[in-house]
Amino acid sequence: MIQIKNLIKYFDGKKVLDDINLNINTGQFFTLMGGSGQGKSVFLQHIIGLLKPDKGSIYIDGQDIVPLKEKNLLEIRRNFGYLFQEGALFDYMNIYDNLALPVREHTTKDDREISILIKKALEEVELSGIEQKFPSQLSVGMRKRVGLARAIILQPKLLLCDEPTSGLDPATGYAISCLILKLCRELKTTTIVVTHDVINFFDISDCIAIIHEGRIAAIGTKDEIRKSEDELIRRFVINHPI
Ligand SMILES: Nc1ncnc2c1ncn2[C@@H]1O[C@H](COP(=O)(O)OP(=O)(O)OP(=O)(O)O)[C@@H](O)[C@H]1O
Ligand SMILES: [Mg+2]
Repeated sequence: MIQIKNLIKYFDGKKVLDDINLNINTGQFFTLMGGSGQGKSVFLQHIIGLLKPDKGSIYIDGQDIVPLKEKNLLEIRRNFGYLFQEGALFDYMNIYDNLALPVREHTTKDDREISILIKKALEEVELSGIEQKFPSQLSVGMRKRVGLARAIILQPKLLLCDEPTSGLDPATGYAISCLILKLCRELKTTTIVVTHDVINFFDISDCIAIIHEGRIAAIGTKDEIRKSEDELIRRFVINHPI
């Protein structure tokens, strides 16, 4: 369970996160939606501890991570999978080494155990057998899937995805959203997606929050959000064919 209380963040005198309060239940598929520049990535970076708020708390399974030092955060991050907006693969390493990175960083597993984990993670994202390829030899959609394989290789309790479908064609975007949902359900991973992709994520999320100018403008199930009479939410929902 993740509890976010009174989270406030300023950048250059501007309030980027404005008193965010959220509860995300264990195993839930939670999506934070909003337009560009509304604070989605900044929010996600707070949960992983890459940014510290000016005020507020972030409880992960009862522990406030805000006061933690880097060393303790590293231990907590062992249970996190993070899919970066651009996949963030290292171009000079093949797929095997890219996927081995978090395993080598967080565990003492030997080469044989690592190769088994890599094989399994690639199977999960339906990219078996590409261990020896380099990122430049893959399509953008394949790179996203490798990024996802790396995020889930240690079976994280919490999966965080920043714009997992941006820059993809509609079919690939749909496939990636289905894959994230499947992993959430199969591995019982609490999943937080931040995105403006209403088409692919609105219907599949257990809970949706809409962020506008750093504030949570609406939160609820898809049916609750659809019923909202708030002008801003109606525009956001109506502007997208859901
Ligand atoms: N490290 C930083 N230093 C200063 N300002 C920042 C920093 N990171 C983000 N911001 C500002 O915070 C605001 C929110 O940015 P954020 O990246 O969270 O938007 P976003 O909702 O993820 O947008 P997008 O959909 O384009 O990815 C923006 O005004 C941005 O310029
Ligand atoms: Mg962003």
